[in-house]
Amino acid sequence: MQQIDASAIDAVGIPRLLLMEHAGLAVVRAVHHLVPDPSAPLVICCGTGWNGGDGLAAARHLHERGHPLRVAVTGPLDRLREEPAAYARILRGLGVAPVECLTAEALGPLDEWLAECRLVIDALLGIGARGAVREPAASMIERINRSGKPVVAVDIPSGLDADTGRIQGVAVRATMTVTFGLAKRGCLLAEGPAHTGTLVVDPITIPRRLLETAAA
Ligand SMILES: NC(=O)c1ccc[n+]([C@@H]2O[C@H](COP(=O)([O-])OP(=O)(O)OC[C@H]3O[C@@H](n4cnc5c(N)ncnc54)[C@H](OP(=O)(O)O)[C@@H]3O)[C@@H](O)[C@H]2O)c1
Repeated sequence: MQQIDASAIDAVGIPRLLLMEHAGLAVVRAVHHLVPDPSAPLVICCGTGWNGGDGLAAARHLHERGHPLRVAVTGPLDRLREEPAAYARILRGLGVAPVECLTAEALGPLDEWLAECRLVIDALLGIGARGAVREPAASMIERINRSGKPVVAVDIPSGLDADTGRIQGVAVRATMTVTFGLAKRGCLLAEGPAHTGTLVVDPITIPRRLLETAAA
């Protein structure tokens, strides 16, 4: 999928922001399938990579639909890459400032947010994660699982190895996983099925030719 993303962006010329927008909208559709009530409070946990950017993209649309939101980011906002940073700026402009949660010790408000919400979006780690889940993401994942709330995972449940389906220390137990382009092997192998929940595959406008060639 990383090669397909690169081909779509570099060879075909589709801006990453455009794919991120469609990824965000795919997540919004999953959220509304599980929680149709637009007044339901939601928590969105975002990492510092493009997976987190997909979560921030979803946040914009969910805000516009009326959901009260709490958006947590596991790193400094001023170090986000171009597209996630653009969404973080838009959210600030809309009055939904993402909150930096930089250490496991600084996750204080998260338990309260999780207790109040109707659903959690897990946009912490995607297919770019490497090795055992580090803090503060590890503690966030534990709290998300402990909350007992429905979870929509973005691309792959955080902490699940996208190739093997093995847990990297700790992993989100999702109700539904919205994966982009093609299903990731990790969702189907080993611990994958128990953590993925319902798997939704969305092409997010990646050219069909690239997906069909890779799947053949
Ligand atoms: N919009 C698009 O163009 C598009 C298209 C397809 C897919 N996607 C999304 O992009 C995702 C891939 O994005 P990505 O390559 O940026 O990778 P990612 O999955 O977002 O992970 C990379 C981020 O996680 C951190 N990280 C890596 N390993 C970690 C660990 N073990 N514990 C804690 N943090 C860790 C990295 O920090 P360090 O750098 O400090 O290690 C980095 O900030 C996909 O899963 C999908 O959600 C986006």
